[in-house]
Amino acid sequence: MKSIEIMENEHENIRRMLKVVREFSHRVMVGGEFDLEDMPKIIDFIRVYADKHHHGKEEDILFKTMNEKIHKLREAGSITGMYIEHDLGRLYMQELEMAIEAYKEGKDKARLDIIANAVGYTNLLERHIQKENMAMYKFAEKMLEDEDKNYIEEEAGKIEKEAENKGLQEKYINILEKLESKYL
Ligand SMILES: [Fe+2]
Ligand SMILES: [Fe+2]
Repeated sequence: MKSIEIMENEHENIRRMLKVVREFSHRVMVGGEFDLEDMPKIIDFIRVYADKHHHGKEEDILFKTMNEKIHKLREAGSITGMYIEHDLGRLYMQELEMAIEAYKEGKDKARLDIIANAVGYTNLLERHIQKENMAMYKFAEKMLEDEDKNYIEEEAGKIEKEAENKGLQEKYINILEKLESKYL
């Protein structure tokens, strides 16, 4: 399915940002060079590209359809697990934002919360992406009827197009590349 190929590609871009986040966190830990003003850019990428755009397609289209149409998965709670992990990711971002504010106010111990939430997020998302690539997306390809696959292709395609018209993908890949060249 083309929509799944695109989502796997988005996973790779998200993973690239996770590497930046780990490097940034390490610099916070060892007192290396980091620009605090890059954090809002990272959080924006995670909230808009990874969460609103990518998780949005999963939650509203792909996983929603799988939950409705694949009884085995629904009964096992597999899809619910994915939603819970998306939520946990949002919590990490909220806490990270608060930690950055505290650090800016001069609370040096807020470094701990920056590192804990940033690295916690990367670990969560790495495992989450692996589960989706290895299991959830494979289940979709194997277990959904053609009619449902067509529906997903069409709906995800619309979102992709709308985002493209707004230049969303381009904007966030650009942010990603700039941060990679600065930190990696
Ligand atoms: Fe997901
Ligand atoms: Fe995903």
